Amino acid sequence: MLRPAFRTRYLEVLASIYLYNEHRGYTSLDRVLEAVRLHCPEDHAFIAEVEKHRADERKHYVMFRRWFERQGRMPLQVDRGVGHIDRFIQWIFRCTIEELDTGTIVANPDQFEQLCRVIMLTEQRGYAQVRIILNNRLIMSDPVMKKIFEIIHRDEPDHFLPYQRWLERQGRATARWNERAADWCIHKILMLAKLPALFLDGRRPRLSLWPDHAEPAIAGAKPLS
Ligand SMILES: [Fe+2]
Ligand SMILES: [Fe+2]
Repeated sequence: MLRPAFRTRYLEVLASIYLYNEHRGYTSLDRVLEAVRLHCPEDHAFIAEVEKHRADERKHYVMFRRWFERQGRMPLQVDRGVGHIDRFIQWIFRCTIEELDTGTIVANPDQFEQLCRVIMLTEQRGYAQVRIILNNRLIMSDPVMKKIFEIIHRDEPDHFLPYQRWLERQGRATARWNERAADWCIHKILMLAKLPALFLDGRRPRLSLWPDHAEPAIAGAKPLS
């Protein structure tokens, strides 16, 4: 029975990549929030939008965690190589997310705008990708997965519009050609190389701990043995 095994593997590869990216998303947004609060402390509406963005990404992470908990399995181990935001930050700022110096970004308006564009493009990419997923019959055949992606689709515009509007208010270009090119290349690497490689890697270990294990516990989370 090839098809059920194929479907199971495909779904868990997809969910493992999403779980990583959602976790990376909300933890990176903590750094962004720090920068936004320092760069424009009087812009309460913008700060509130970024806080909502952070809360949404955390919610998305929890949905994928719950999906794995229902399966009774842990996600596959993945690294920064499958992180869209990791690759984008590395490409534009030549450092990892952890190495991003919030102080330098806040002191340098060009860098702050660049950071806003990176987030905006990453989220626009995410929105386009979810629309493709919603038309994928294999993924939609899992009712919980279907519900998760419908929620993500509903939330996603709130994740790029605040940055886009902020850039427009500053009279800044909303994206440069080289940033769009970087986003396009990263997406192709993830879809055409990283995702198939993970799918075929039958020896790929699973996580032994949830990525948020050191954070305050999620209400109702079940430990998996
Ligand atoms: Fe998300
Ligand atoms: Fe998002």
